Amino acid sequence: MGKAEELGKLKKEMEADKKLPLFGQANLVFGEGRPDAEVMFIGEAPGFHEDKLQRPFVGQAGKLLDKLLEKIKWPRESVYITNIVKRRPPENRDPLQEEIEAYKPYLTKQIEIINPKMIATLGRFAMAYFLPEAKISRDHGIPKKNGSYLIIPIYHPAAALRSTTVLQELENDFNKLPELLKSSENIKAEEAAPKKPAQSSLF
Ligand code: URA
Repeated sequence: MGKAEELGKLKKEMEADKKLPLFGQANLVFGEGRPDAEVMFIGEAPGFHEDKLQRPFVGQAGKLLDKLLEKIKWPRESVYITNIVKRRPPENRDPLQEEIEAYKPYLTKQIEIINPKMIATLGRFAMAYFLPEAKISRDHGIPKKNGSYLIIPIYHPAAALRSTTVLQELENDFNKLPELLKSSENIKAEEAAPKKPAQSSLF
């Protein structure tokens, strides 16, 4: 089965999973982009517009994300965009820990299928999902290896719409992404290389 088919199957499973929190209250926003993207952008949870259109990042924050992608010449269709929680929490409240946990097996599978080189997390919830010890104001823009992926925490575009300082930081971090993607290739190469036998220590 190809990646697109596998993702389609996963989406159907999610749609049918009545145990998922927010089931029946909001639409599923599964994610979109290249099934074999090298880069995934992972946000928090859909908002009003995303729920309506069943597409991630299509409101004001999404428009900024599109602009930032354009600036680094990464067409939106060349990456994969999704969220840790895939239904809109009522009134756009923060996602609850139990919601994040419930959606986790699906996000894990989605990442496994796409198998990107790099994951850019948008905002503190998505960052904490991968890097629980990190602090967004201190650690944004600093890549961390997580298994075979390079995780790069960046600010949420919605936060950048509220603060010009954050916008500046977000732009700076975005501009680093193409270079970071190159370094993430080494991680994948290391992973694919046959393991060297352990050196016997004679001294
Ligand atoms: N904010 C998010 O975290 N995700 C979206 O899809 C839209 C806004």
